[in-house]
Order: sequence, then structure tokens, then C-alpha cells
Amino acid sequence: MRFNDLSLEPTRVTFWGASAALEIRSPLPGVLRVRHIPSPGHSSMAARELAAKHSWSVVAHAELPLSVRQDKAAGLTVVQAEGLSLEVRPEQGTWVLREPGGRELARCEGFSGETMPDYPVNRYRSRLSLHAPPDEAWLGFGEKVGTLDKRGMHFVFWNTDVVPHHPDTDPLYQSIPFSMGLRGGTAWGFFLDESWRLEVDVAAEDPTRVRWESAGPELDAYLFAGPLPADVLRRYTALTGRPPLPPLWSLGVQQSRWGYENAREIRSVIRDYRAHQLPLDCVYLDIDYMEGYKVWTWDRSRYPDPAGLAGEAAAQGVKLVTIIDPAVKAEPGYRVYDEALAGDYLVRNDRGSVLLGEVWPKPAAFPDFTREPVRTWWGQLHRAFVETGVAGFWNDMNEPACFRLINGNETFPINSAPAADLGKVEGPTLPHDARHGDRRHLEVHNVYALGMARAAYEGLRELAPERRPFLLTRAGAAGIQRYAAVWTGDNSSYWAHLELSIAMLLGLGLSGVAFSGADVPGFLGRATGEMLVRWTQLGAFYPLLRNHSAKGTPYQEPWRFGEPYLSITREWLERRYRLLPTLYTLMYEASQEGLPAMRPLVMYAPDDQEALRMDDAFLLGRELLVAPVIRQGRSHRHVYLPEGRWLPFFDLGLSAGGVREGRQHVLAEAPLRTVPMWLRAGGALALTEPALHTTSANWAHLTWHIHAAPRVEAHLYEDAGEGYGASRRTRLVGEGTADRFVLERTTEGALPSARETETLCLYALTEPKEVLGAREHRYVEDVLLVEVEAGWTRLEVRL
Ligand code: GLC
Repeated sequence: MRFNDLSLEPTRVTFWGASAALEIRSPLPGVLRVRHIPSPGHSSMAARELAAKHSWSVVAHAELPLSVRQDKAAGLTVVQAEGLSLEVRPEQGTWVLREPGGRELARCEGFSGETMPDYPVNRYRSRLSLHAPPDEAWLGFGEKVGTLDKRGMHFVFWNTDVVPHHPDTDPLYQSIPFSMGLRGGTAWGFFLDESWRLEVDVAAEDPTRVRWESAGPELDAYLFAGPLPADVLRRYTALTGRPPLPPLWSLGVQQSRWGYENAREIRSVIRDYRAHQLPLDCVYLDIDYMEGYKVWTWDRSRYPDPAGLAGEAAAQGVKLVTIIDPAVKAEPGYRVYDEALAGDYLVRNDRGSVLLGEVWPKPAAFPDFTREPVRTWWGQLHRAFVETGVAGFWNDMNEPACFRLINGNETFPINSAPAADLGKVEGPTLPHDARHGDRRHLEVHNVYALGMARAAYEGLRELAPERRPFLLTRAGAAGIQRYAAVWTGDNSSYWAHLELSIAMLLGLGLSGVAFSGADVPGFLGRATGEMLVRWTQLGAFYPLLRNHSAKGTPYQEPWRFGEPYLSITREWLERRYRLLPTLYTLMYEASQEGLPAMRPLVMYAPDDQEALRMDDAFLLGRELLVAPVIRQGRSHRHVYLPEGRWLPFFDLGLSAGGVREGRQHVLAEAPLRTVPMWLRAGGALALTEPALHTTSANWAHLTWHIHAAPRVEAHLYEDAGEGYGASRRTRLVGEGTADRFVLERTTEGALPSARETETLCLYALTEPKEVLGAREHRYVEDVLLVEVEAGWTRLEVRL
């Protein structure tokens, strides 16, 4: 690729070659957009104007100023933006990304492309190659299997319904082509804003290169400055959007099963939860609630009175969530299908007629969520369900999944569908050439679910403006965090899947998806009592905690496994509710800054290779290191503690053994009841009392667990737990010296306090001589327990 011409505008710099172009802009500080256009014929090169390009993922559209410096002798043109610069070599068509200090962050070794004339539309292959220094780690890539560092792997981005999936299955349901490079403690980000089918080879084929390939005509890349992983993530989520704060109830315990037969069974699940004194906030209704798999209907023989059921559940503090699949049964007389036909809302095949396939409904047609009128129509379809009292929606099969294709009177299994008649099909979905308005499926397949989730989210905001939407989705694309939580699809009750879920959720979190979970204790297969316990212990820290299982598998509600599993599971579900002040605050932070609740250790130890390899442990927020047991029969586990001082805080309580220095490997004792955890020096954790269900996030009882250090900082966000009313933000700042520890509390926001009791548990302080500002205090086994008045502002501990 060679460029011989340059056009300069205040916010846009474009390099032109015989048939290629490279366009540079800056939408945000520390972010550059670089459109690599290798294919002739796509844009009007002669007129020196690139075709505008639609983005499904990006929500920040500012245009910041750029400056340009040319170094003719070195053959360089340097494009300077706030926080980053790009050094382009027009002769070679390559670039180097640098920090303001001049340090090299990334290097593009070239890009190229081909257009292959084809019927009905041309096909493309566009490639871009990044240099991969041997000591660089590659994190992110959305919902992918494997270790945290994806070096040595190859991924396809093509949303796919896979049952069952395995620890090496690719692709899965989500396509988020975002990665974070990490080298020598410095992070940078790369996002390919392409909805087309993509592939990436992460230094697998060639250990010195990361190669991206798109089936589309260009490579629209965004480059993000760090220097820390959290900085990259803040910038990436400023570009693609942040997750809205979910309703508090959706952070409670969720129970689901494909196979609950009817309203009677739903009632008995709720009754049994309560009879066993188990916390529960919501129950899901899977596909069997519909009449003949017709979306937006109820099977009245199974659910004679859905509103009555919702009311009874509500009286127990339980919400209902219904599954909503995109495929619409193609049956004349069925209102949803009739409206879709009349409005021209459906995906069409290459020949122009409505595309028909089979999913749960047969035959089925597919709404085209890439078009706005279709999204508006679909959004409004939520109305009757909202009025019935359904509190949340579960979007599934939205890759979209399609098991068979129909052509006239014949149906074809996807794998043997005749391409000549039905188009090329990859995975159980629609053909590449299916029509979405004037786009083809190959271009928009990966954003189908994003459009569906957007339709639901925007519809719900309009239909119930006083409530926060709760949406759960299986498929998605970059930006899905704006609308929905994500669960990792059809896993199995394997120990390997329990372990895998950690790296998968960490990867999703590093790709902007903060609200996520995996089915506990596995969707397919047979779980054991031990697995239920170990998976619930891990799930207690998933942002989304749902027990779900497949039809035909043994039931796996907590009481199905007997004792001691039931009691231990109850203890952990209760701990989940105790953790809610912290988890809710973390979800609030996610909505403000894009950082996930579950974070890899390496996030705060970016130059520590040992921390990078720890993908079977994680941090909840910044302060709490969680090392769940992930293997059968184990009573101990190894864990690496990164830099810092760590207070053992097993099972959210003080445990034997003293504070540990970090940068060391430790062996933790973890009998079945126990999850090893440590609280970082300077960190604080806000806990409340257990409850059977959530009510408000304006906590009546609060206990702060504070690991005293020269500097302590902690935050708490509170509000009603629902809606868009008043909130209160509390900040604790502590300062410790040899002879005293002072803690100051400030608050902000209009929400009046509901506090009845507030306790501070201060760790790592020697026995105090005097405590000022407390209502009462005691020193018990190395812990200073302090009761404070609701409106306290200052505590001083003299040592
Ligand atoms: C898909 C979903 C699963 C659901 C089932 C039936 O397999 O991933 O969670 O239970 O469909 O709707």
C-alpha cells in the first residue's frame, strides 16, 4: 500500500493512494479512528471523498482537532491528537502509534484487500497486520474461551448458537472485536468497528503478528491510549457506551429452568425457595409459556392468568422474566406475523421473498432489527407484557439461530442447504446473502442481537419510564452493554466450565460488558451437590447470578441436592445479599466509567507476569481478591497475591492467619464451606444484612470492613434500587500514621439516609488507646469494632 497524496482538514487527515486511502480522526481524547480502505471501487477515490460509514457500536461522534507534521527526510507524516499520535509512513502504508511521551504503543505493518466480483454482491477480504512483540499480552476479544491472555489463539467473530460448547469452541454467541495490548505495564486498545464477519489470528500462525481479516471492504479501527488497563477501558466505553445501572433486584438470586411446565410449577419453585429460607429475587419463564412458540403470546392452558401469577410472585418479593426469541411464527392470522408482513419488517431472501426457516416455531420469519421502524414496532410489542407485570426480558436465539431453511415446500438442514437456492450459510443461521433492507446478512449478522436489544431497551424506556429496563441477552456485538446483561449461553455441568467462566467473564468485562454471568451450576448435564456449592460460591461474585438448567436434565434448585449442600448454598446466597452494597456500587461505577465488577488481578498489577497468568481468581472491584475452588474434591487451593498487603477475609469474615505481603504464592485452606478471599490494604468493603429478596439500595444496616493503611479510600452509591430518583454518594477517606488513624466521611446527593445501624470493622490496627467520634467501640481479636451515629463524619483512632 502506497500513499502519494494527503488532504488536511482541521479534524480529518486523509492519505490517498492509487486505489487505497487511510483516514484519521479523533472522536475523544486519547482515541484515534483510523479507517483503512484497501479496496478499490468502494469509495470515490477520484473525487477524494470517502463514503460515509454507519456504525452500530460507536456512540461518541465528536471531532477533535488534529495537527500534522511532516518529516520528509525520514519519510514520515505525524498526525497529532490529544493524548496520542500516529506516525504514518506513506511510502509503505504503515503506521506507529505513540504516547505523548514518544513511547511506541503499537505498530501496523500494513493492510491490504481484495474485491471479488460475485453475485449478488461483491465479496471482500480486507486484512490488517499488527506487530506483536514477544512480551506483549493480548486481552479482551469479548466472549471467548481460553486463558485471559489470548496470545496463540485464533478467533472468528460470527455470532453462533452452539450446543453444547466446550472449552475450545469458537465462535460463540457474541462478537466484540476489541483487544487490549499490555506490555511492560502499559496498556493500549484496538477496536475494529466492523459488523462484517471477522477473524483474528492472535500471534498463533506467526508469533510476531496479530492479523485481522474482515469480509467487508475496509477496516475501521479505533486506537486507545492507556497507560493503565482501566484507562483503556474508560476510553473504549466512552466510545461504545456504558452499561446503565440495573435495577437492584436483577443483582439478586435468579432461578430459571427450561422445562418448568406451567404456572403451578413456577408457584411451587417460589414456595420451595421460601420454605427453605433461600433468597430469591426472580424467576424466568422459558419458551414453554408461549402458545406454540409464538412470541408475545401465552399458552393459556399452562398460564391461565399471567397477571395473577406476577402478582403472587411480587407478594413474595419475586419478579418474573420472560424469554423473548426473535423468530416469529409464520402463520397467517397470528397478529405479530400479520403486522410484520404488512409493515415489511421481515428479513428477505436473495430473491426478495420473506425468508423462512425453522427455530422453535416452524415455519419462522425473522424481524430485521437493523431498520428503525422494525425496532420501534418490536419495542412496542413489550407493552402487553409490561402491563401484565413482567419485570424483565430474556433475549435468546438472537444470533439469530435458525435450525433449518425452508424453500417452497422443502426444508433443508443448514449444513446441506443448497447454496444455489438458499445462499451460503455458516453456522445455524441465515444465509450470507439474506436481505436486511439494502444490506446483506454477511454485513449485519453480528449486530442482529444488538438491534433487537436496542429495540427492547428503547421500547421499555418509553413504556415504563419510571423503571430501569432489565434485559438479558445471549448474542451481542460491541456496544451491547448499553442495553443488556450477557450470559455465556449453553454451558455444561463440568468443572472445566466452572473454571472457564472466570476467564470468559473477565474477558467480557475487559471488552466493556460489565453485567454478565454464566449458568450456575451448568445448563446441560448433571451437577453434583459439591458442584452446586462450588459454583454458587463463584456465582455469588458474578454480577448476574442465575441458576438455570436444560429440559431433560436433573432439576438443580438448591434443595435438590440434600444436605450439607443446601445449607452451604444458603450461606452463600445470603453472602451474596450481604455483598449487595458493594456490588451495586460497582455497577454504578460501571455505568459511570465502564469498569466491570469482576476484574483480573493484572488490572492493578499490569507489569506482573504472575498476575497475568491468574485466570482462576479475580478481584471484585479493586479491593477484594476472590479465589474460589474450581476443582472437584479439593480442600486447598493455590493463589498468587499481587503487590500490596492482603488481609485474609475468607467467606467475608476475618479468618485465621495474618496479613500477607503480596508478590507471593500462597496455599489457602478451602474446605467445602470456604472461599479464600483477601482484602487489599487501603481497601474497604461495604456489607449489609442477608435478606430473602432485595427492597431498596438505601441500606438500613451497613458494616464497613476496612483494611487500615496509610491511605484508605472507599465509595458507596445508594438509591431506591429502581427508577431514576434521588441518590447519595458516600466517600470514606482514611489516613494512617504510626500513632493514629483518621477516617473522614463525606456525602453528596439528595437521597435522605435510611441508616439504622452503621458499624466499622477496622483491621490491621494495634490496640487503640482512644477512639473519638464513636458511639461505642470494642477491640476483639485484632479487630476494632466501632458503632457510629448515622450521620457520622469523622472517626479518630489514637494508637
Ligand atoms: C437456548 C438457551 C437456553 C434456553 C433454551 C430454551 O438453548 O441458551 O438458555 O433454556 O434455548 O429456550
